[in-house]
Amino acid sequence: TWTPDSFVETTVAQLQEKIGTDKVILGLSGGVDSSVAAMLLHKAIGKNLHCIFVNNGLLRKDEFPSVLEQYEGMGLNVKGVDASARFLDELTGESDPEKKRKIIGRVFIEVFDDESHLVEDAKWLAQGTIYPDVIESVSATGGPSATIKSHHNVGGLPDFMKLSVVEPLRMLFKDEVRRVGASMGLDPLLLGRHPFPGPGLAIRILGDITREKVAILQEVDAIFINGLKTAGLYDKVWQAGAMLLPVNSVGVMGDERTYEKCVALRAVESTDGMTADWVNLPYEFLQKTSNDIINKVRGVNRVVYDISSKPPATIEWE
Ligand code: XMP
Repeated sequence: TWTPDSFVETTVAQLQEKIGTDKVILGLSGGVDSSVAAMLLHKAIGKNLHCIFVNNGLLRKDEFPSVLEQYEGMGLNVKGVDASARFLDELTGESDPEKKRKIIGRVFIEVFDDESHLVEDAKWLAQGTIYPDVIESVSATGGPSATIKSHHNVGGLPDFMKLSVVEPLRMLFKDEVRRVGASMGLDPLLLGRHPFPGPGLAIRILGDITREKVAILQEVDAIFINGLKTAGLYDKVWQAGAMLLPVNSVGVMGDERTYEKCVALRAVESTDGMTADWVNLPYEFLQKTSNDIINKVRGVNRVVYDISSKPPATIEWE
């Protein structure tokens, strides 16, 4: 019978046999899959696993330093690469959602390729691909965590893609990945994290992206997500986040009229992201969250809650 412990034991042995003393490169995203894949490889080959964690400037507030620290605490050989400026510069002026995704995919590959050259004699590229990704890439819809997989059609294969691929989670479903992670002692907070899209906040800022908009949305998102945690609601929700809308609306502050930004909060229940229902969050929670956002985040004067289910509405707004 399959148990997480036996999976870890056999997979570590297989990885050792397959990889020997070769060097392996792995891109960490902060998500469950890449983290569990990294821990398995770390157990198998230790310092010969070279992890790369890229900051694209579109992560959640404080995510880059805190997740990097967590990875280091797990003993991983990890390099944090802050490429925020490069991503944000390349995104300047672009408001088409698919073009934004393409830019982010391309820049990620460029950054990753540059970094992988710094690891001499690497032979393998490890990925946290799980079974649903395998099925999805067959149906070619390019869904979650498709960043590396679906954006490599940029003319000429980057060198790191010529490495042999190793995907230790290829046969597992998400809940099995979590159980494997737990059996290796991964932090339950890391294992319980909501999914977060590869293009990050770029697809939650509707329209063009500026540093100011990213900063506003990071604040709003942090208030919402921390509020869910404080209220004990985080684990009841499959995914949550905030969208910065490309409209200003009128408000009043003192005896002045304001004309400021509107944010939409979204929280959904789902099993795989293919269908989703909006979560019936308590009114008191929404009330407090809205007050906190409007009082604390300059430039936002209106908060709405998205009560649309998928289908037909998608989870993200872009
Ligand atoms: P939608 O918006 O299609 O989202 O209902 C379903 C799930 O996919 C995530 N998502 C993405 N993940 N790159 C990703 O890695 C993307 O471009 C992307 N678009 C949506 C979304 O967050 C949700 O979990």
